[in-house]
Amino acid sequence: MIHAVITAIGAYVPNYRLTNEELSTLVETNDEWITKRIGIKERRILKPDEGKGVSYLAVKAIEDLKSRHDFNPLEIEAVIFATTTPDYPLPSSAAITAARTGMTNAFCFDMEAACSGFIYALEIANGFIVSGKYKKVMVVAGDVLSAVTDYQDRNTCPIFGDGCGCALLEATTEEIGIMDSIIRSDGANPEYLHYYGGGSVHPASYETVDQRLHYIWQDGRIVFKRAVESMVKSCEDLLKRNNLSKEAVDWVVPHQANMRIIEAVARQFEVPIDKVMINIDKYGNTSAATIPICLWEWESRLHKGDIVLLTAFGAGFTWGATYLKWGYDPT
Ligand code: UT7
Repeated sequence: MIHAVITAIGAYVPNYRLTNEELSTLVETNDEWITKRIGIKERRILKPDEGKGVSYLAVKAIEDLKSRHDFNPLEIEAVIFATTTPDYPLPSSAAITAARTGMTNAFCFDMEAACSGFIYALEIANGFIVSGKYKKVMVVAGDVLSAVTDYQDRNTCPIFGDGCGCALLEATTEEIGIMDSIIRSDGANPEYLHYYGGGSVHPASYETVDQRLHYIWQDGRIVFKRAVESMVKSCEDLLKRNNLSKEAVDWVVPHQANMRIIEAVARQFEVPIDKVMINIDKYGNTSAATIPICLWEWESRLHKGDIVLLTAFGAGFTWGATYLKWGYDPT
């Protein structure tokens, strides 16, 4: 049987550190509130003097992967870029990134599933590979949320940061890689978490700018509750379907949106917190990128065969969980 396995991880976060202290000069907030209620100390921001667009971060992430892993860009057959903040509505950031990194034999497209983007993209890549038609797919997941964050809204601006991760997926007949996944969405209530400006309902205009429609807005309490419920249920259902005990799980990698969400998921799913990858304090919520950035930071502690559960929740609503057996030992 063919499985799709992650054989390499790369990531990049921009240089500029936006601290809670600096945020406190922009909106009515403070380090103590943000640390206690969200768990973030700083987030990285892509400043124009460093680079522009999510493809800038993606190229850096792929260069990072290439510097540490065996990787021939010409062998990549597809590039799937999960992002809510592409460089442009068109052309795709996937195509731009592929051209700049030499993945010139690949077909490329962007996809949007907000903070669940990485697990959605893995699902698609897995389908391509297990079909037998494709052997090497690059999944890129990145966002420049600072481009769509309202730095006058204290309900959203402390949360978001910029970053990008990437994962090389390859076909294998070994019993490793993506084993199963549960991926869901519910578009019944876009009003709870949205970014309305610039689409076909509200094409960009002076009015959409005046109404601040080109920024993300959320009802934080509702999103918080749905996030915890959905991530816990996806993980529970996935374990049950695969006859796996909670004790068998080596690592849980949750989307990093709020430290209290992560703690609630760990508590309700009943996994010890030291099996949960957490780096929200350093990077905040980088949307599609949080999970691959965690895998990248923990790469040296992951071993071949480790049972890893990825779980995410985001705008859409979108959510789900992926069960994989890690594909390689640390080098
Ligand atoms: O990635 C998927 C998308 N997003 C998420 O998953 C985020 C989910 N939601 C959250 O993380 C949290 O709901 C927030 C961080 C957005 C807000 O935290 P909260 O603990 O739910 O706060 P709240 O909205 O219930 O507000 C509590 C109080 C309010 O004051 P009053 O009305 O009680 O006087 C807010 O005005 O905290 C106030 N507040 C703040 N105070 C200082 C809200 N934001 C801030 C702030 N600094 N930045």
